[in-house]
Amino acid sequence: MKLKITVLPGDGIGPEVIDQAVKVVDAVCRKKGHKPEYSHGLVGAAAIDESGDPYPEDTHRLCMESDAVLFGAIGHPRFDNDPKARVRPETGLLAMRKKLGLYANIRPIMTFPSLLHKSPLRKELVEGADFITIRELTGGIYFGRPQGRSEDGNTAYDTCVYHKYEIERICRLAFDFAMKRKKKLTMVDKANVLATSRLWRETVQQLSANYPEVEVEYMFVDNAAMQIIQWPKRFDVLVTENMFGDILTDEASVITGSLGLLPSASIGMHTSVFEPIHGSYPSAAGKNIANPLAAVLSAALMFEYAFNLQNEAWLIRQAVEASFLADIVTEDIDTMNPAKTSEVGDLLADWIDKSKI
Ligand code: IPM
Ligand code: MN
Repeated sequence: MKLKITVLPGDGIGPEVIDQAVKVVDAVCRKKGHKPEYSHGLVGAAAIDESGDPYPEDTHRLCMESDAVLFGAIGHPRFDNDPKARVRPETGLLAMRKKLGLYANIRPIMTFPSLLHKSPLRKELVEGADFITIRELTGGIYFGRPQGRSEDGNTAYDTCVYHKYEIERICRLAFDFAMKRKKKLTMVDKANVLATSRLWRETVQQLSANYPEVEVEYMFVDNAAMQIIQWPKRFDVLVTENMFGDILTDEASVITGSLGLLPSASIGMHTSVFEPIHGSYPSAAGKNIANPLAAVLSAALMFEYAFNLQNEAWLIRQAVEASFLADIVTEDIDTMNPAKTSEVGDLLADWIDKSKI
């Protein structure tokens, strides 16, 4: 099968983790007889330096013309420490999400048996935890207008806006996921305070009539933040708005043992994007120390969601398990005897080359 993939490494550790993901995709394609065709685009700070635009039109065209996008990370301290910067790398990521219509960000939280001892939580709490957060990605406070500052500069405002159609389409997707899993859906909101949350709750209540088999529970976000850590195994599918989803999934990543392990799939109206949930980790950039597994596992999600190639995705996950068993892991997981980013990628590709599966 021909796989047209746009690669957007982005900023910070993006390029080095994406290199490993591409190595792994190549190995899977060699093994299974697929033909990857890559195109490369600029995004984020790298794109600002080149063209002044963090999501240039050329990059958008490449994304639209491909079957899938593999995305690294975005963000640069040069902009973080300059609140007055006119353009920001993150604006590029938001523009990409909006222009590609990526309204759903699927973030699976899974545990790896050989890594249970790395979780800051007790083994019995973590073992078998397996849930999916479905984060709304093109609405809410990230995109609501007006946003800005008063003329005297002493007041700033953001606006959280949700339209019913935006809530309906993502919640339908969440119900569909729940139907394929344990049929349990948790909707996370702040309906005791926010009008948008009340519209979410009302919409989910209406939709649930079409999914009588799915057990729905409603949970305030502060309570959810607590329960994710206290009892992660109770969750199956979580659906929530943009900013709550951003925060809760970083929190949930610690269950696994490292933020460097969690992949995501952003899907919607056009080409899907596969991206680690971690950021650009600028202090590690170029040092060959960052964990490439979130990017590699994002490539596994790409095989699954963009190409419907389940065995290929499974092969990547097996290779990742093998790297844990061989203890070839980066310093976020093994501080005593860490492997380099590229060594992890080499081991995975080599394991796939040699596998009999
Ligand atoms: C993420 C990131 C982004 C977000 C940032 C870089 C804008 O944290 O993908 O979770 O907040 O969505
Ligand atoms: Mn985030």
